[in-house]
Amino acid sequence: MDLPRIFTIRESNHRIHNPLTAEKFATLGESLRLPAGTRVLDLASGSGEMLCTWARDLGFTGTGVDISTLFTEQARARAAALGVADRVEFVHGDAAGHVADQPVDLAACVGATWIGNGVAGTTELLQRSLRPGGMMLIGEPFWRRTPPDEETAKACHASSVADFLLLPALIEQFQELGYDVVEMMLADQDSWDRYAAAQWLSMRRWLDENPDDELAPEVREELTTEPAHYARYGREYLSWGVFALMKR
Ligand SMILES: C[S@@+](CC[C@H](N)C(=O)[O-])C[C@H]1O[C@@H](n2cnc3c(N)ncnc32)[C@H](O)[C@@H]1O
Repeated sequence: MDLPRIFTIRESNHRIHNPLTAEKFATLGESLRLPAGTRVLDLASGSGEMLCTWARDLGFTGTGVDISTLFTEQARARAAALGVADRVEFVHGDAAGHVADQPVDLAACVGATWIGNGVAGTTELLQRSLRPGGMMLIGEPFWRRTPPDEETAKACHASSVADFLLLPALIEQFQELGYDVVEMMLADQDSWDRYAAAQWLSMRRWLDENPDDELAPEVREELTTEPAHYARYGREYLSWGVFALMKR
């Protein structure tokens, strides 16, 4: 059970595996107005940057679960480096169906709603770990501009235009599921670049060091085509945000 290696080649140097910057994450944490001691469950926690920095800066505690052995090791190392290893733990595992032993104050899934088969299923999954009155964070893509055709949607790594909504419709979807949207932090094109463009140098360095690896031809092809492809499609049409929700 692990994340396919191509992802860790692209994102080996990322601390944040989504299109928010460290500054945006810090602002989001502060904006939630939650007290020190807030207990967090973070499903698909990646390299643990959100949990570790919020433990350091805001006094939160919690658990992250992620399927990637590499990212989980990086998260544990980051917790030690930031001096918060006594407040956060990182578990390697499948987060689909994962429910906390004790109810938490803040339950998050930032960038992996496939673990609940989409937004609706992920809110249900997170709700099962949440104390009454608790808060939920969902990170999800939305269309910055509606793609003109299905080909453009596929070029944005979606399977169809119907995969994502425009921002107002995504907010309405959360509301129709019975939640108040109480905060949000959105990516912008510059912060998308920190996520997407930062993968290109990681791929180039990896290729230089691993020219004979079986994945080298795939990585070479991606490094050649992806920068212009991203500039033409993903950067123009796709956006992303983290939404803070509270059940009505
Ligand atoms: C877009 S990244 C977001 C990571 C992290 N939340 C962040 O924002 O930095 C998606 C993450 O989902 C993890 N993942 C994918 N499928 C998973 C599963 N079934 N269970 C747990 N983690 C999973 C990946 O390993 C990756 O770390």
